[in-house]
Amino acid sequence: DFIYSIRGIHELERELRDCLHIKEVIVVPGNLDNENYVLADIAKATSELMNKLIKNKDIIGITGGTTMAAVAEGMEQQNKDKNITVVPARGGLGRRLESQSNIVAAKLAEKLKGNYQMLHASDTLSQEILQSILEDPEIKKIIELIKKVNLLIFGIGRAEDMANRRELPQDVVEGLMKDGAVAEAFGFYFNLAGEVTYEMKTIGIQFADFIKIPNVIGVAGGARKAQAIYAISKLKKDMILVTDEGATREILKLY
Ligand code: G3H
Repeated sequence: DFIYSIRGIHELERELRDCLHIKEVIVVPGNLDNENYVLADIAKATSELMNKLIKNKDIIGITGGTTMAAVAEGMEQQNKDKNITVVPARGGLGRRLESQSNIVAAKLAEKLKGNYQMLHASDTLSQEILQSILEDPEIKKIIELIKKVNLLIFGIGRAEDMANRRELPQDVVEGLMKDGAVAEAFGFYFNLAGEVTYEMKTIGIQFADFIKIPNVIGVAGGARKAQAIYAISKLKKDMILVTDEGATREILKLY
């Protein structure tokens, strides 16, 4: 019954937290791969967690993607101005407007009654062009702010899906797969052990910054993302994970 299933979920949370060795795990029932409503539940759990963590004058970073778009959308409207700034943690990516990090950051800021800054650059430009864009004074200003992020919320992606979203050439995608890449974050690709197998220059948050951010919430659901979540959890032991039952059961099979 309901009470039993709530207790079951808490047991799953503890089990997953102990296996992944991370700070905290929140699991919502269901499997996002099969049931769309799970995305709204993941978003709700994430926004409740954020409400507990957010402090005055925080600089919050958020990535893009469908999960982060749902998180920003599902955030409860705040009435009190806490002098919060929201920045996109990475450049533009993929084709969908509503899941661009700029849009997601602006939406989250609106919900938090905060300010936002835009990062007017695409994350899929060639490495040479990105390098020169990073010299631009406007971009530099935002990058400085991104380095001050003290609460990061990020979506966890499968290596193959993200390589395609980042429009990497097919031979690079195949090479990544051959090298065992299962997860992507900030332009870095990781194998199951959390080792970097490939990296490219991106705009926005860098891996070295990520490691130093005091509060980090990774969010991803669906059994398909199990290996990606497992790999990313190796990177930062003080991370909090919000996921679903489908991913959790699949991750636990990896042990
Ligand atoms: O960038 C996005 C994340 O890495 C995963 O995206 O939430 O659309 O699956 P998603």
